[in-house]
Amino acid sequence: MTSSLIGQNKATKVVTRIREEELMDVPLQAEAYAGADFSEPNSNFVAHFADKFPAFRGDRILDLGCGPADITVRFAARYPQARVVGLDGADAMLDIAREVILQHTALANRVDVRRWHIGREENPLGTEVFDAVASNSLLHHLRDPLDLWKAIRACTAPGAAVLIMDLIRPQSRIEAERIVEKYAGKETEVLRGDFLKSLLAAYRPAEIMEQLVSINMNSLQIEVVSDRHLIAFGSID
Ligand SMILES: C[S@@+](CC[C@H](N)C(=O)[O-])C[C@H]1O[C@@H](n2cnc3c(N)ncnc32)[C@H](O)[C@@H]1O
Repeated sequence: MTSSLIGQNKATKVVTRIREEELMDVPLQAEAYAGADFSEPNSNFVAHFADKFPAFRGDRILDLGCGPADITVRFAARYPQARVVGLDGADAMLDIAREVILQHTALANRVDVRRWHIGREENPLGTEVFDAVASNSLLHHLRDPLDLWKAIRACTAPGAAVLIMDLIRPQSRIEAERIVEKYAGKETEVLRGDFLKSLLAAYRPAEIMEQLVSINMNSLQIEVVSDRHLIAFGSID
C-alpha cells in the first residue's frame, strides 16, 4: 500500500489519509514535541510491552524513531539488564535525546541514540540484531510504511519481541480535532498542529494488516488499545 493521500471533507468522513512530513527536524517542532506531556501514552507503551511479553529477559532493545528518547529511557528503567538503542533520522530530535539521556545518570551508560533515516540511509547498525524492537508513532510518518516493517525484519534476532504503537486515523476531521482538544488542549500551537496532522496521517487497523500481509509479517497481531492508539505486536518468523 502506498501512503499517498489527497484530501478530506471537514464535516464528513476522512476517507483518505493525508501524508505528514517524515522527519521532525525543525528545532521548534522537536522542542514542542519534547516539551509536551506524553507520560500517559509513553508509560502505557512500556506497560503494553510488559503485558504482551511477560517473560522478556533480553538484553538488547531497539527503539525505532525514538524522538526525544523518553520511551527509550523508560525501557532502560523497566529492563535493568538491557542496553537500549534509539534511532531517529532527525538531528534536532537526537540533540534533545542526548540531553534527556544525560539527565538520567543511572541509566545513561545503557542508553545510546544514533541517526538512521529509515528508508533513505544505510542501517548504521549493520548486521546487529535485537531481542526486542519497539516503535511509537513512527509508522504514520514514513513515506513508505513498508520501510518500518523491513527495518524491523532487518534488526530482530530470531524470536524477538516486536511492539509497535501508533495513532489511529479518526473517522472525520472533526473527530480528529476533538481528540487534539481533549488530549493536547493545553499544549503549544505547534504541538497541536502536529498532533492533528499525525491523526490525519495515521493508518487504520485494516490498512496495517494489509501492509503486514503484503510483507509476510502477519504473525504480528493488531489490537486497539485506546480511543486513539493501536498496537501491533508479536514475533516474526
Ligand atoms: C511522533 S515522533 C515519535 C517519537 C518517539 N517514538 C515517541 O513516541 O516519543 C516520530 C519520530 O520519528 C522520526 N522519523 C520520522 N520518519 C523517520 C524515518 N524515516 N527514519 C527515522 N526516523 C524517522 C521523527 O524524526 C520523529 O522523531
